[in-house]
Amino acid sequence: MRSEAVRRVIRAYDDWIVRGYCWGRFWILRQRFLDEIGQYLPERGRVLDLGCGFGLFSLYYASVLPEVRLQGLDRNPRRIAMAQAAARRLGLTNVSYDVGDVMDFRGGERVDAVYMLDIVHHIPADAVRPLLEQVAKVLPAGGLLLIKDVDRTPAYKRWFTHVLDKVMDPGTPVRYWDADELMATLTESGFGVRRHLMVDILPYPHILYICVRQ
Ligand SMILES: C[S@@+](CC[C@H](N)C(=O)[O-])C[C@H]1O[C@@H](n2cnc3c(N)ncnc32)[C@H](O)[C@@H]1O
Repeated sequence: MRSEAVRRVIRAYDDWIVRGYCWGRFWILRQRFLDEIGQYLPERGRVLDLGCGFGLFSLYYASVLPEVRLQGLDRNPRRIAMAQAAARRLGLTNVSYDVGDVMDFRGGERVDAVYMLDIVHHIPADAVRPLLEQVAKVLPAGGLLLIKDVDRTPAYKRWFTHVLDKVMDPGTPVRYWDADELMATLTESGFGVRRHLMVDILPYPHILYICVRQ
């Protein structure tokens, strides 16, 4: 049933290249990982997807968590237009999208949770802490920030992921954080942090940081 939700999301995009991309993303972050991340999301309330890309994951979570109101933000207007069109096609009214740079994110209304999937390594290193501090401001004490990113070890998995990142988006800089360094930055930004290792037989060094607003 939930895999049917994935298939419905993929079918909601008109462009076959984007469908192929989404198929690839859902192959990398497949059902098991969607569940591993999704288990931390609230069952109701407001959730932000920062750097949402084409919106595939927010569309998926909006489908399976109908009482959650999701809001996606990405700097790429084409991706946001596609996410909006796909949401309309799926008839989802609990998800919305805006164009914007996460480095300009200043929040506003309180939200119940925030997630960032494979975004932190695309943000200039010195902009990460200011972003985390802004995210901390929109979360209540106990609110969750989920960061799925790429670990630096083992090196062969990191290099494999680096090549893919460069093929997908050659112009965007990539900087994979050492897990201890990112955890220290998260702690300094007001979060209690633990790691959830997302062990994959494929060569992806996934790492999920479960960050609780202190
Ligand atoms: C690897 S994709 C991940 C997209 C989506 N989170 C996913 O998991 O499929 C990286 C995304 O980050 C977006 N991005 C990179 N830097 C950004 C920034 N400073 N502000 C907003 N979006 C950004 C890109 O436009 C792209 O859609």
